[in-house]
This record gives sequence, C-alpha cells and structure tokens, in this order.
Amino acid sequence: PRPILLTRHGESQDNVRGRIGGDTAISEAGELYSKKLANFVEKRLKSERAASIWTSTLQRTILTASPIVGFPKIQWRALDEINAGVCDGMTYEEIKKNRPEEYESRKKDKLRYRYPRGESYLDVIQRLEPVIIELERQRAPVVVISHQAVLRALYAYFADRPLKEVPHIEMPLHTIIEIQMGVTGVQEKRYKLMD
Ligand code: G3H
Repeated sequence: PRPILLTRHGESQDNVRGRIGGDTAISEAGELYSKKLANFVEKRLKSERAASIWTSTLQRTILTASPIVGFPKIQWRALDEINAGVCDGMTYEEIKKNRPEEYESRKKDKLRYRYPRGESYLDVIQRLEPVIIELERQRAPVVVISHQAVLRALYAYFADRPLKEVPHIEMPLHTIIEIQMGVTGVQEKRYKLMD
C-alpha cells in the first residue's frame, strides 16, 4: 500500500505574528522544518520513482517544498488555505475587537460559518473534492504540503472523522501525518520533526 504524507507548511511569518491568511514567506524555524522534511521524504520515498509533491499556490507551501529534490511538484489552488475574506491578515484578537458579530457567529458554528467575501469549512470541503479523487486514483505515494484548515478536511476524509469535528481537529506545525490505506482500513503514523 502506498502512503499519503500530510503536512502543514513550515512556520510562516504570519504564524509568528498570529495573523491568519496572507501569503508570507516562512520563518527561520519554518526553513529548518523544510530541510528536515526534505530529509525525511528523500529517505522515506527513496525507491518510489512515481511519487509526487503537492503544494498549494501560496508561498509558504512552495518554500517548504523547495529543499525536496528528485520528485515532481504540483501546485493546486484547491489546496490553498481557507479564504478568510474581510478578516484576511487579521489576528483573532483583532477580529474579536473589530468584528465581534463575525467572531461570535464563527464560534457558534465554525463548520458552517462563512467569512464575508471568503469561505466556510464546508466550502473548503467541497473544493477539495477533485484533490481527493486524484489522491485516490494515485498508485504512488503523495506528499501533500498545505494548510491547517485544508488538512483538517483532508485528514477527516481519510480518517473517517465526522463532519462536525473537522474545524477542531488538531493539526500541529512541523509534524507529518502518514496515512496508509490497506485492506484492513486506514493506518496512521505521526512524525514530529521538531517543536
Ligand atoms: O488561517 C486559517 C487557519 O489556519 C484556520 O484556523 O479555522 O482554526 O481559524 P481556524
């Protein structure tokens, strides 16, 4: 059985500042992760000639993939982070202060809440459909380097977690989740490459 490796991008400048959305580069810690990830992938997928690396179209995932050599890289817009619309670039504190109604509605129903001029988790789940179809069609391993909200949705699909849990699944930075689909079901391993 072929593995699917899921990981968030290395820590970004916006992660450091607590800002959501945006398209910043990765931090020094993020760069260190990108090197550790490259090492891991090159060892883990050494003899897997048909393996590929999928990223979003945002800098932080492309930069995280950049030290990985020897595998084709594909950018998917469908792997971009949830679009926070009018709240893009804000911290959660700023949203709470400047848009208290939005903050409250999201807290009440994080799955269905749609940012004004942006997306909801349900929107993200829907746009991931072609990615999931393609992932299931692949015979070779795939490394997916994406974002917190998107990976929650992808992971929930493969791990068969209920819809209502999706927005709350823990998806830490600098950790690889390896999923193997076999006849007995789905197996999962986690590799925390750094803190
Ligand atoms: O920038 C968006 C975050 O990665 C998504 O996190 O849905 O828990 O606010 P959240």
